[in-house]
Formats: sequence, C-alpha cells, structure tokens
Amino acid sequence: MTQETSLTHQQMLDLIQQLNDYSYAYHVKDSPIVPDAVYDRDYQLLQAVESQYPEWIQVDSPTQRVGEKPDSGFANVAHTVPMLSLDNAFDNASLADFDQRLRKLLNMSVEKDITYCCEPKLDGLAISLRYEKGRLIRGVTRGDGLSGEDITSNIKTLYSVPLTLRTTTPPAVLEVRGEIYMPKEGFEKLNGLAEAKGEKAFVNPRNAAAGSLRQLDPKITATRPLVMCAYSIGYVEGWEQPDSHYDGLMQLSEWGFRTNDLMARAQGAKGCINYYDMLNEQRAELSYDIDGIVYKVDDIALQQKLGFIARAPRWAIARKFPAQEEMTRILGVDFQVGRTGAITPVARLEPVFVGGVTVSNATLHNKDEIARLGVMVNDYVVVHRAGDVIPKVVQVVMEKRPDNAIEVAFPEACPVCGSDLEQVEGEAVIRCTGGLVCGAQLKESLKHFVSRKALDIDGLGDKLIEQLVDQELVKTPVDIFTLFLKKDRLLSMERMGQKSVDKLLASIEQAKSTQFNRFIYALGIREVGEATARALTGYFNDLDSVMAADQETLVEVDDVGPIVAQHVKRFFDQTINRDTVQGLLDAGVMWETKQAVSSDNLPLLGKTYVVTGSLSQLSRDQIKDKLQALGAKVSGSVSTKTDCLVAGEKAGSKLTKAQALDVPVIDEAGVIALLAEWGAI
Ligand code: IVH
Repeated sequence: MTQETSLTHQQMLDLIQQLNDYSYAYHVKDSPIVPDAVYDRDYQLLQAVESQYPEWIQVDSPTQRVGEKPDSGFANVAHTVPMLSLDNAFDNASLADFDQRLRKLLNMSVEKDITYCCEPKLDGLAISLRYEKGRLIRGVTRGDGLSGEDITSNIKTLYSVPLTLRTTTPPAVLEVRGEIYMPKEGFEKLNGLAEAKGEKAFVNPRNAAAGSLRQLDPKITATRPLVMCAYSIGYVEGWEQPDSHYDGLMQLSEWGFRTNDLMARAQGAKGCINYYDMLNEQRAELSYDIDGIVYKVDDIALQQKLGFIARAPRWAIARKFPAQEEMTRILGVDFQVGRTGAITPVARLEPVFVGGVTVSNATLHNKDEIARLGVMVNDYVVVHRAGDVIPKVVQVVMEKRPDNAIEVAFPEACPVCGSDLEQVEGEAVIRCTGGLVCGAQLKESLKHFVSRKALDIDGLGDKLIEQLVDQELVKTPVDIFTLFLKKDRLLSMERMGQKSVDKLLASIEQAKSTQFNRFIYALGIREVGEATARALTGYFNDLDSVMAADQETLVEVDDVGPIVAQHVKRFFDQTINRDTVQGLLDAGVMWETKQAVSSDNLPLLGKTYVVTGSLSQLSRDQIKDKLQALGAKVSGSVSTKTDCLVAGEKAGSKLTKAQALDVPVIDEAGVIALLAEWGAI
C-alpha cells in the first residue's frame, strides 16, 4: 500500500540528509542524537515518498543500502595499489629492534624519537573502498593483496560505510582501507539465533564477519552486525594528503568514516611499549576482538623514505598479543557437579599456553554442546581463553582426528553421590537429583551460603568447607551454627590453630545477625541472585509471606518472571528446605524486621536509576546498594523508563543514550549529595 505523502523534492533531500546525520551519529560516532523510534519513523516516511516518486530516489538514500543479488558471484578486481601485509613483533625486544632499525635508516639523532601512530589491530577482514567524486563506487576484499573480490553490494549494507562522503569538495578519487569486523555482542546474538534455529554457530567473530561478507545475497549481509573502521588512505587523486597519517585518519573521520577511538600517537619505542601495556589491560573489556597493535611511522614523508620490503611496509609493524586460541589435545572428560546439581563436562587437556596462561581444563558446558562440537576424547581441539573468562573448547580439528578417538560417555548417575540424574524438557542441563545429600552440591551450597554477599562468614574458606563436608561435620547449613560444640574436631583440621578456630566461631556467631535479603540470597534458590533476593524482600514483609507465596503473587515482584517464581515456589515446597530454614532460625539466625514501606523511609521508591562509568569515592556496587536502600530500582540499561543516570568518569554509550533520551544525568558528586541528603551516607 502506498502511503500518500506531501513532501516536496527538496524536503525529501533534506530528509535523506537528516537520516544520514542520525546514522552517522549512531554508527560512526557512537553517540545517537535521536531515539531509534525517530529514525524508524523518518525512514518509513522516506520509503513512502520513494514509492510514490521512484524517479526521485537518490544514491545516498539509506533505502539504497540493500540491493538485489549480483547476477554472477563476485568479480575479481585488481587493487590500484597493492594491499600489503605487516611484519610481526611478538615481544618488546623485537619492537625496540624495529624502532632501532628505522632510526638507523633515517639517520635520527640520539635526542630525537620517531613519532608513531598506535592503533588496535582489529581482528576482521581488510577491505578497500573506492570513492569517485565523493560517491562509493566499489568495495573490494584484500584477496591475495594484488586483487580481491568485488563485494560492493554487501559493503553498502554497512551503516558505518558512507555511501557518499560528508563534504561538498571531495577528492576526485579516494581509496580508503580499513577493517570490517563483528563486535562481540553482535556475534553472541547471531550465534544465539543460529543455535535457536538449529544451525551451525560461528567459531569466532572473525569467521562470522568473513561468512557474512561472503553471502551472495546482500539482504542476508544487511542483517549481520558488521562494522567498518578505516585505518589508512590507500590512494588519492585531486587532494593533498596531510603530512601525518594520524591527521589523514582525522580527515577520513570528518568525511564520515568510523575510526578507532583508541588510536593515539606515541614517542619512540618506550611510548609504543606503554601503549601496549595500556591496551593489553583493556583488551578483554573491549567490545570487539583485537589481536595486537599496529605501530605506524606517523610522518608520511618518513614513510616514503622508508618504503617497502617484499609485501610489507618498512614503516609499520604489528605487535601481536598472546594468542587467545590454541590447539591442544583432549586427554579425558571429567564431570563436575555444581551448587544446583548441574553436571558440567570439563575437558582435561594437554596443557597449552593460551591467552597468557597455561590451561589444562576447559569447559564443554553440557551434553548438547558435546554433540554440537562432535568432540571425542583424544581429539585435537581449539581452545579459547580471553581475559579472565574461563577457557572453552570452541572447535574440533576434524582433519587431525586420531584412530583412538573415543566417544564421550555421559554418566548414568551422579558421579559424586550416585543419585539419579534428570533433564528438564527443553533444558540442556542435566542435574543430579541428590540435593544436599550430594557432597558436591552440599559443598557448593555451603560456599555460596557463607560468601560475602550472603551470610558473609569470614574464615570459612573453600578448603575448610571441603574438609568439614568430607569429615561429615557439616551436612546442612544449619550444622555451621553448632560447630562450637565440635571445637576439638575443628582444631584437628589442617591449618586450624586455637586462634583461627576462635576467630571462625566468632564470625559464625556474628553472622547470625544478618539481613532479610542476604538470608534469602544465601539459601541458593535457583536463579535467585542478589538483585532478585532484594526484590523479593522488598515486596514481602516477612519470611513467612515469601514461603507461603503462590506463583501469581510471586510474578508480581519486579524482576521475577514465571520461571523464577516456579523455582521459589518449588524451593519452599520441599520439606527439606523448610526444615533447613527453620533450623537456621532455631540456631539464632535473625534480621531486623522491615518497617512498613512508605515514602518517608523510602524516598526514592518508584524511581529507576542506572549507574555507569568509573567512580572514585564509592564503588558502583556501593552506590547501587545505597540507592536501593532508599527504595530506588537500579537497572542495567538506560531507557525511556530511566529517571536518572549516575555517570562516573569515562561513561560511554549509556551516557550518550541518556542524553539522546533526555534522561537527567548526575555525576559522582551529585549522587553523593543525594545520598547524603537522605542520610544514606
Ligand atoms: S595497516 C600497510 N592498520 O592487519 C599497512 N592493518 O597483517 C597494512 N589490520 O590485512 C595494514 N587493524 O586487515 C593496519 N589498524 C590497522 C589494522 C590492520 C587490522 C589488519 C589488516 C591487514 C592485517 C595486516
């Protein structure tokens, strides 16, 4: 159906400009200037005008990003200037050698340093984009460096690629080089969707980006969360390039390209090493994968003096990070039992150095994952470890499957207590039904029960809990509170002298006075984390009401959906759990009863806060706790429902979103003043 519109031709051109400005702010500058709904509404208006007047359609209209399938695959196109590769340095010494070599070639005096442009080495695929008179003509993959595939129709679907340059005086010809990559979040989502549809997941964001660009149908590429980031000017005609590489990239940024915001200039080898340390620390938190740093001589005249050797420039080097993926062999599979009885298969590996540490175990998650990977004992596998994330097996190297590969046998009964296993329909996890009878579940439940955010019992560490369970001194959380009767046994434990036993018993005694929400959290009800425990205790006045609540009442609690409600209900339906709760109360565990909820003691009731950025005086958790204590709800993301954003230093996308949505923003001093005003500090 054609929607009648009454735009003039000029108004339509303005609308295109408007939409391109919105999308530049969103996709290139990471700072949206309007809510998504405004963009969508204007986009629909443009679509309506274009269907009414097809002859008005412009090349830079956002509707022109997704075109038809090219008739016959991707054509091979020669690059105007070859796309080079880079030499690698794997340690600081070879980086220093590189700098020394250049200084010699350039006859630099001792007191002068070479200025380098330092850039994250983005882990995606290189691309060359050709603009003629400011208009995107072609996008070509790197290929063998001399020629690549023409994937223009796919490239156009990326909003971070300008269809026309944002200038009225573009160079006659401009070839921009950069990397196309898939941010981690988009990759996770894409794989989630693939798995839900029973399709094969991608091994890593780089493969996902490659696979997405190789699609013959641009409509598919358009659905993939790809980003293009410019990192150099390949070729120009009709424009005097700046004499610094960095300044050249700044110009590209003005013309509408995305550049990396961590790019920085540094002086000499020392400056480069400092940059490495800074980036290496941030690596795991970045929203995209990087596999190293590229250092480039910033001065273009010096670059020209240095020239090239074989297929790489003499003026640049890639300093690689320790690999996050390595190949190793699976020696066997162990089965661990978690707090909620979930059985997790863990691969025992031939030790391998990956992500900066030696790894000898990696999770295989569950039975479905074993099937999905098709993994067998003795197989060669790819192990991934990024930052502090637990290592995981991501792929079997089928070509290397040995003759002695053995299928992974999932246990028939709990490997710790021998109880039956169960699998809830629709869930991948297989669980031990033993509950606290199962030593493994008991140990993990106790560790949770005494943890900092639960009853916070100092001196009752993992090792001691394991001994207490193994020696059958503790069979339920209640037994912790009768340990004072077994002082002699405690004294006989490893590393437990008179002093530490006294200290332990004192902190157990102290832990008896707790808080309602900590108590609920400590019980370890499935899917009831700290926030849900707080929501439950905020809604119900006392323990009896929580224990007696039915499903319908439970789902009325913020943060509680039908599944969590079912877990809570089931937990309190079980006699063993009711007995444990009663036992704890009998042992003297208690908390202050809540005052009636009113706006007098909860001045922020009904308000939703979001806390972001780094704070210096209080931690983010402390601020959240205090806001919640005043009745506020603290949410993880900014939306139109947010009443206030607390933004510390380096607040990123949440701040830009809040500004776009006109959500009030306060800084650290502001929130501290607010908390002080209500006596929370
Ligand atoms: S500069 C002559 N800069 O790394 C300079 N490359 O091995 C050639 N890469 O194929 C490339 N981030 O795909 C450069 N900031 C960056 C980069 C980068 C990633 C990739 C690029 C290239 C490979 C070089």
